Amino acid sequence: MVTRPGPLVDTFGREHRDLRISVTDRCNFRCTYCMPEEGLAWVARHDVLTFEEIERVARVCVERFGFDSIRLTGGEPTVRAHLDVLVAKLATLGVDLAMTTNGSALRAQARGLREAGLDRLNISLDSLRAERFAALTRRDELAGVLDGIDAALEAGFHPVKLNVVCMEGVNDDEVLDFASFGRARGVEVRFIEFMPLDADHAWSAVQVVPGERIVAAIDAVYPLRPVARGSDPAEIFEYLDGGGRVGAITSVTAPFCARCDRVRLTAEGKVRNCLFSLDETDLRSVLRGGGDDDDLAGALTSCVAAKGRGHQIGSVTFVQPPRTMSQIGG
Ligand code: 5AD
Ligand code: SF4
Repeated sequence: MVTRPGPLVDTFGREHRDLRISVTDRCNFRCTYCMPEEGLAWVARHDVLTFEEIERVARVCVERFGFDSIRLTGGEPTVRAHLDVLVAKLATLGVDLAMTTNGSALRAQARGLREAGLDRLNISLDSLRAERFAALTRRDELAGVLDGIDAALEAGFHPVKLNVVCMEGVNDDEVLDFASFGRARGVEVRFIEFMPLDADHAWSAVQVVPGERIVAAIDAVYPLRPVARGSDPAEIFEYLDGGGRVGAITSVTAPFCARCDRVRLTAEGKVRNCLFSLDETDLRSVLRGGGDDDDLAGALTSCVAAKGRGHQIGSVTFVQPPRTMSQIGG
């Protein structure tokens, strides 16, 4: 199948320009909402895409379909050996290049990644309290992550964004602590609503803290004004006193599906048109079966053509995908 250059458009008219690449399904943490404590089977190494294969898919997305941003995710991307080599390859594509990480390896890697051409960093952190952090991630590493945030700022990443998954009765009492932390450190905190992608399928709607409530709580202490948003899924606010920005990603209460421009590539080479899709398109067999770039473009086109209108979290027909977030890539 030959595809002409031009945007990758689905049946709802959404143009796709953002590629999220999971470089590994492995992680050095075991966040309770994302992975089981043990027993999650890793993808075998030979089934994980090589850097050359990843670069080929990324090149097709950029050159044929005009993608303008790429984000590296995991699992935890920094556990993949020589990640800076992949970053340097992808940096030659000339698009916005970002990464989502748990931050634990940034003291060792931030500078090298920056020098290799990584533009932006999002760091996931759900508690500023050491004991709670250890309970949530099943690793006693808060100090290392805080040091990783400093290392990211020192390496010149700007802005550094902090992803906080806010859960009722778990860490919702830390909203103001996080707001203060973001203001003091000059990082943009983004509160994410808890989504049903957990390993144990224990998610329930009562654990979701609506973004609106979070923003109201912050606004009462540090007054905010909204900032116009583009394709960013987060609703962004600015502190009136010049304290920087803060945001909420309301993936459950007000999903951004209507503006979604994302395509996801899993570590073993499956393309997914949605975090919650139940189907995937296998690109690895195309890559390893002698397929050319037209074949890759064709597979990407049919994957996006099959994209649904949006997730139906909360409806009786919603089915949680069998993969956890760590196996999809955030
Ligand atoms: N709901 C919301 N966010 C999640 N993440 C992982 N699992 C979930 C979930 N069930 C977040 C991580 C990270 C990003 C990749 O996705 O905390 O910030
Ligand atoms: Fe690892 Fe991220 Fe999942 Fe936590 S949320 S276990 S850091 S992949």
